[in-house]
Amino acid sequence: MLTIEKNAVQRYLENKLHTRGNEEPICAYVYDLDRLKEHAETIKQSLPPFCRLYYAVKANPERPILETLEPIIDGFEVASQGEMTKLGTLTEKPMLFGGPGKKDQEIRAALQTNVEYLNVESFHELNRMAYIAEQMDVRIPVLIRVNLSTNVSESHIRMSGVPTQFGVDERDIPALITKALGCEHIDIKGFHFHAMSNNLDAEAHLKFIQLCIEKSLYWREEFKLDAPIINVGGGIGINYWDPEQPFDWSVLAEGLHRFHHYYEKENLTLFLEIGRYMTAECGSYLAEVLDVKTNHGEHFAVLRGGSHHLRLPAAWKISHPFEVYPVEDWRYPFERPGIMGDVVTVAGELCTPNDVLVRKEHVQQLRAGDVMIFRFAGAYGWTISHHDFLSHPHPDHVFIKKD
Ligand SMILES: Cc1ncc(COP(=O)(O)O)c(C=O)c1O
Repeated sequence: MLTIEKNAVQRYLENKLHTRGNEEPICAYVYDLDRLKEHAETIKQSLPPFCRLYYAVKANPERPILETLEPIIDGFEVASQGEMTKLGTLTEKPMLFGGPGKKDQEIRAALQTNVEYLNVESFHELNRMAYIAEQMDVRIPVLIRVNLSTNVSESHIRMSGVPTQFGVDERDIPALITKALGCEHIDIKGFHFHAMSNNLDAEAHLKFIQLCIEKSLYWREEFKLDAPIINVGGGIGINYWDPEQPFDWSVLAEGLHRFHHYYEKENLTLFLEIGRYMTAECGSYLAEVLDVKTNHGEHFAVLRGGSHHLRLPAAWKISHPFEVYPVEDWRYPFERPGIMGDVVTVAGELCTPNDVLVRKEHVQQLRAGDVMIFRFAGAYGWTISHHDFLSHPHPDHVFIKKD
C-alpha cells in the first residue's frame, strides 16, 4: 500500500527534478488520490450496516480530497460555514455541524443547507438554536454533545473526561434534555461523544464506544426519547512515533460487528466522523534541504519549508516521520555540506527556534540538496499551519491519480 504513495511522490520528484529551474528548491504537498480512495473504501467496507461513515472536513478540506471521498462515504462533518460552503457545490450528501462556537449566522446557514443534525454544546447554544428555529419556523434535529465524566483514553489530546470547552458536562445532561424537551422547535435525535485525538489503541476505542452506547441507551430510556443516533466522533490515531505499529483498524471493525445486538434490539445508528485516520496517509510534505551545519556540537539541517507548512510536529513537539530522498546533482562549484551516520535536528526556514520538524534523529546521510519526505502529512498538515508567517512562497500542492 505504501508503494503506491511512494510511487506518487517519486513520480512527482523525478519530474520536478528534471524540469525545475536551477534556483528553485523543492517544496510541495503531494497527495496520492488512488491511495486515499482505496483506504476509504477499505474502511467503509469493513463497517457493519448500522454504522455511517462521515469525514471530518477539518482534517483536510482540499477539493480533490473531498471529491475523492464523496462517492465512498455517507456524509461530512463540518465545523463552520466555510466548510459548508466548500461542500456546497460538491455534494448533496448529509452534513453534521459541530463545534463549540457556532455563530447565529452559521446556524441559519446550516438550516438552509443539507445539514442533517447540529450538535448542541451548551445551554446557551440550545437557547439560541431554539430562538433561531422559532424565527425561521423550523425544527432543529440536534445531537447533544456530551463531555463524559470518566476519562476515556490515554490519548494525549482529550476533549472529554477532562475540563474543556467542548460539550455539556455529563452531570448536566439530564437538565439539558429536560430543557430541550420543553423547546417546541428542537428535536433530540441522539448524542455526540467525540472525545479524543490520535488514539492508537483499538481495544480502548471499542470500550469508549461501548460506554457511549450505554450512556445513550440510559438517557433514551430515562427520558423516553426517540433518539437513534450515537455519534462517537473521530480520534483514531496515526502512530507518528512508530509507523510500523499502526492503529489496528481490523480490531476496531471486528469489535463494531460485535455490537450488532444493540442495534438490532434498540434500532440505533452509529456515526463515525473520521478525520486524521482517513487522510493522513495519502499526503506527503516534501522539502529540500538548504543547509546542513553544526552549532554547539549538534547538527542542524535547514529546509525550504517548515512548520508554517507542516505545523503538527512543532505543535506536538514530536519528530515527524521522514525519509531522505537523495539527490545526486549539486548545483554549486563549491563543497556540499552534509552529515553521514549521525544525529540531526531538522528545522524550517522561519526565524524561530520552534520551527523544528525532526528532533535529534539518526540519518544515514543528509546533504544540502537532498529532499526530505514527511509522511502522514495529509491530515492536519497544511490546513492547520500558519502559511504566511515570513511571507515565503507557498509549496506546490499536487494531487496525483493514475488516470
Ligand atoms: C467534532 C469532531 N468530530 C470529528 C473530528 C475528527 O477527529 P479525528 O481527526 O481525530 O478523526 C474532530 C476533530 O477535531 C471533531 O472536533
